[in-house]
Amino acid sequence: MQWHKRIEKNITLLTVLVLITVSIGGIVEIVPTFTINSTIEPVKGVRPYSPLELAGRNIYIREGCYVCHSQQIRTFRDEVERYGHYSLAAESKYDHPFQWGSKRTGPDLARVGGKYSNDWHVAHLKDPQSVVPESIMPPYAFLADTPLNMADEIKAHLETNVDVGVPYTDAQIANAPADLRAQANPNAEHAGLLERYPKAEVADFDGKPQVLTEMDALVAYLQILGQMVDFDEVSREQLRR
Ligand code: HEC
Repeated sequence: MQWHKRIEKNITLLTVLVLITVSIGGIVEIVPTFTINSTIEPVKGVRPYSPLELAGRNIYIREGCYVCHSQQIRTFRDEVERYGHYSLAAESKYDHPFQWGSKRTGPDLARVGGKYSNDWHVAHLKDPQSVVPESIMPPYAFLADTPLNMADEIKAHLETNVDVGVPYTDAQIANAPADLRAQANPNAEHAGLLERYPKAEVADFDGKPQVLTEMDALVAYLQILGQMVDFDEVSREQLRR
């Protein structure tokens, strides 16, 4: 350890060696981000959230659902058997901030879309024990009584996402207030909405057709989770390669 003592006593040598060590660490961390575009494989089907889904995502974050729920299925067999195909980086590329999380008091939600009906989600969010008697999830019944007053600000939400790299088009931004309402109204005109946001589910999510509520938005968000990518198609393409 004689050589180490020499380094400890020579402040200039120590500084130079510390700088070299730290720069190696820095390079290893920073350089891969220069190639981020080729690191994240593009996956067919991943699209920006529709205005109603985005509003629901904001409510999900506001209510702290991420404190108990992760949205990242890891590549372990037990996880894949329980939750479905492991999560791909591209699936959360439009999530700002992403909701991977690290705490699972409740199950992972990355693929919960389509697993239950809208009615189940509404009943569960209003009173979790009514459908899962042993549940310790808190109730969120007030969401069904809280009107979603976002028509004025939803454009700004889309624009803010554009600022951080989400490719919303001018048409998507211009139509945002109308799309927000149309997705929760089965009687509205949907051709434009579905062209702008393929696979968006159109429904009166909370069973209250006369008013657009925060419950509508949150359930619309939960129902798209994990639904954008067609994994049968992904595995067919991998086989072909
Ligand atoms: C205190 C922790 C906690 C919080 C906060 C919480 N949950 Fe849960 N959640 C749970 C637990 C535990 C379960 C499993 C039992 C059940 O189904 O109710 C669960 C189950 C779920 C399920 C069903 C998942 C499945 O695959 O069966 C959904 C959907 C869900 N939660 C959504 C939410 C949403 C949305 C919020 C925020 C509004 C939220 N949770 C907040 C603990 C929580």
